[in-house]
Amino acid sequence: MIKPLRKAVLPVAGLGTRFLPATKAMAKEMLPVVDKPLIQYAIEEARAAGIEQFCMVTGRGKTALVEHFDIAYELEATLKERGKTDALRELRSNHLPPGSITTVRQQEPLGLGHAIWCARAFIGDDPFAILLPDDLVLSDTPCTKQLADAYYETGGCVVAVTEVPREQTNRYGILDIGHDDGRLVEVRGLVEKPKPEDAPSNLSIIGRYVLMPQVIEFLSRMERGAGNEVQLTDAMAKLIGLVPFHGLRYEGRRFDCGDKVGFLEAQIAFALKRPDLAPAVRAFLRTYAGEMAG
Ligand code: UTP
Repeated sequence: MIKPLRKAVLPVAGLGTRFLPATKAMAKEMLPVVDKPLIQYAIEEARAAGIEQFCMVTGRGKTALVEHFDIAYELEATLKERGKTDALRELRSNHLPPGSITTVRQQEPLGLGHAIWCARAFIGDDPFAILLPDDLVLSDTPCTKQLADAYYETGGCVVAVTEVPREQTNRYGILDIGHDDGRLVEVRGLVEKPKPEDAPSNLSIIGRYVLMPQVIEFLSRMERGAGNEVQLTDAMAKLIGLVPFHGLRYEGRRFDCGDKVGFLEAQIAFALKRPDLAPAVRAFLRTYAGEMAG
């Protein structure tokens, strides 16, 4: 029997060094794309996939991430009083059912694998999704929903994958692939950040996963991998053969918002999707394009 997918883990305990000084006193996941923080995009995406329980793996200086999902009574009362109904509606759409969000602390950022292991009590015996909020995906069907559908189809682990230029394989988790139907790819092996000459393919994992709870057993061994961190990729690789394991070529465009250029690109792409902003954004882009051409 395939268990329903109801849980998501959101690791947000990283240091965000690529985004200093913005991330000195503020979590990277609170950075807004247009007018919404990255963490809110992630929670909304998970909810659209039927996820009901959320666990944020947090660290020092990350309390705003949790408070963002509290009900701001005074603010809501003021907006109501002033007749700002649109802003009020937007705020209320962010309300989560009581008790659906929990946090665990990762006292030291020892790696993504270690962060997931910190959520072991929350995960228990259930399948779970992982969303890295700094990876933002613009798509017609939310990326986690695409993964959830693939999970119900295959009954095992599914990771979202995309082709990257070969010279960039040393930045990502890379798949060794078996049968490939163009959408779902059978995973034969996984390597974290291989050199281009050692990479088994150029299919890389992005920050969206559906995993089986057995991964915790392998994470518990605390084996250090690339960068001397406890790597999720290494523990996932040990599940191959034990449970079905597939990569899904998701539909959509992914932006690495932990990187300055990726973040800027996301601002433009998401703003162009907004009817209230697109005309003004198009106009200023034309001005910049003209200046560059001239
Ligand atoms: P990144 O590789 O982007 O690391 O982590 P980072 O520390 O956030 O950012 P940089 O590279 O220093 O700029 C990928 C995801 O894993 C989480 C991060 O919060 C991010 O969502 N993470 C990473 C943890 O929660 N704990 C860790 O120990 C490492």
